[in-house]
Amino acid sequence: MREKLVAGNWKMHGNQAENKSLLNAVVAGVAELRGKDIAVCAPYPYLSLVQTMLRDTNIVWGAQNVSQYDKGAYTGEISAAMLKDFDCSYVIVGHSERRALYNEDSHTVALKYVAVQREGMVPILCVGETLEQRESGITEKIISEQLDAVMNMAGGASLGKAVIAYEPVWAIGTGKTATPQQAQEVHEFIRARVAIQNAEEADNLVILYGGSVKANNAAELFNMPDIDGGLIGGASLVATEFISICQALQ
Ligand code: G3P
Repeated sequence: MREKLVAGNWKMHGNQAENKSLLNAVVAGVAELRGKDIAVCAPYPYLSLVQTMLRDTNIVWGAQNVSQYDKGAYTGEISAAMLKDFDCSYVIVGHSERRALYNEDSHTVALKYVAVQREGMVPILCVGETLEQRESGITEKIISEQLDAVMNMAGGASLGKAVIAYEPVWAIGTGKTATPQQAQEVHEFIRARVAIQNAEEADNLVILYGGSVKANNAAELFNMPDIDGGLIGGASLVATEFISICQALQ
């Protein structure tokens, strides 16, 4: 039985006061939802705040990026060990915004993925195609390349303790959600691809959908057989929306 998960990706939003009031509202709103996995991925400077405010709640937390290196002269970078120091449970790697805006290739993403696992945290590996790629009929090819970079990583990245987030780039922040059927098709494909290497890991793999998930479409998406929850951007910044999305977890 896979545990379903809703994770908020705050991206580069909020300040100290806004984050405090958002967290207060979310903590109160999901307090009764015991047994459901809920996480928020905050900007680095607020991890300490998140750690303090969420410590005794049913919400865990994580970061949105990490360095592929353990330590050294990498000005401005944050290592996995540093994130572990703040008790992060999850770290997002390979978000399409990082792939597109910061030129992260799949090999770098795989190194980050391994760095996160080495510190005992769970990577949330984002994969997804652009609109142009979907329209050219190469969605599966793109997803396969992104997945294979991790699965073929020398030194053995494990899909056992990981989460994959399918985030079609054309659905991120656009209000254009993939239909439950479109998302299900790709989720099924991802699970089948992982199964070629390890059927048990594939069966247990939590695969989230991300891209314009809102309170009014979450339940329909989460009810699909291979959709195990969501990675939520914009709607995770609005307490009432995020709480309703968490409530949509079955
Ligand atoms: O990582 C979450 C994300 O990229 C989706 O963003 O705003 O479309 O929910 P949004």
